[in-house]
Amino acid sequence: METVVKIIRKNVWKMNERYQIITGDCLDILPSYSDGYFDCCITDPPFNISKKKGLGWAFSSHVTIQEQWDIFTKDDYFQFSFDWLREVCRVVKINGNIFVFGSFHSIFTIGFILQHLLDRKIISQLVWYKVNAQPNITCRMFTESTEFIIWAVNNESHKAKNWTFNYDVMKQMNDGKQMRNVFQIPVTPKSERIYGKHPAQKPEAIFQRLILAGTNEGDTIIDPFSGTGTAGVVAKRFNRNCVMIDNNENYNSIAKKRLLHEMGL
Ligand SMILES: C[S@@+](CC[C@H](N)C(=O)[O-])C[C@H]1O[C@@H](n2cnc3c(N)ncnc32)[C@H](O)[C@@H]1O
Repeated sequence: METVVKIIRKNVWKMNERYQIITGDCLDILPSYSDGYFDCCITDPPFNISKKKGLGWAFSSHVTIQEQWDIFTKDDYFQFSFDWLREVCRVVKINGNIFVFGSFHSIFTIGFILQHLLDRKIISQLVWYKVNAQPNITCRMFTESTEFIIWAVNNESHKAKNWTFNYDVMKQMNDGKQMRNVFQIPVTPKSERIYGKHPAQKPEAIFQRLILAGTNEGDTIIDPFSGTGTAGVVAKRFNRNCVMIDNNENYNSIAKKRLLHEMGL
């Protein structure tokens, strides 16, 4: 087993077993972890937004996602989402939190799999309201300015109990009022992109809220689609561990630089 693990996790940058970046396909890497190894999963998977023939706006700096890793047929996306979610439910401890990002393109699929096929307890759907979302270039619809995060607990819906929710920390962050499930947070600032660009990098402020609400110091988070390592950067800042997996070497090298910066190295 040890040798198998070494072969599968060969492209690794690590501080220790519970704080590392692994380059590879999460569907290959996750099976090398034992049941219940992680306390929590926080992840931002492909949304299947990209189009083969994408939208562009000449002379504009507006970002459209146009990535090979984000293009699936509907059926392939469903199968892919089912496969990684089932594996995440195996490697996260019973009653551990699972937070999954999505937009309207993907969130219903993720929700259906978690709620109906895997029978996980859904606690809430969080809404990220992007206060400075970019305008809609077609002018044929409302300006898209939200993303969603499904918060599930890793147990059958009727058995789930004792999940982590740091109510007081959230209340304190919200000037003494109960934290609501709509997060008004601007899109990722330039200051968080100094080590390189990623078309879907999330603001640290969102991960901060999820990590502080849903984990405790010393916990280990798994992010199987870690991109530029936002989960790991924020985890480190608040004394949590994080195993990050991404199959793109370039994004992982941005993540390493961000982590070293976070550690003052
Ligand atoms: C939405 S992005 C995550 C961005 C990240 N939250 C951040 O703040 O930088 C999704 C990531 O999943 C990665 N990815 C796609 N398919 C993958 C797979 N099968 N295994 C591992 N990573 C994958 C992509 O390279 C991409 O960086």
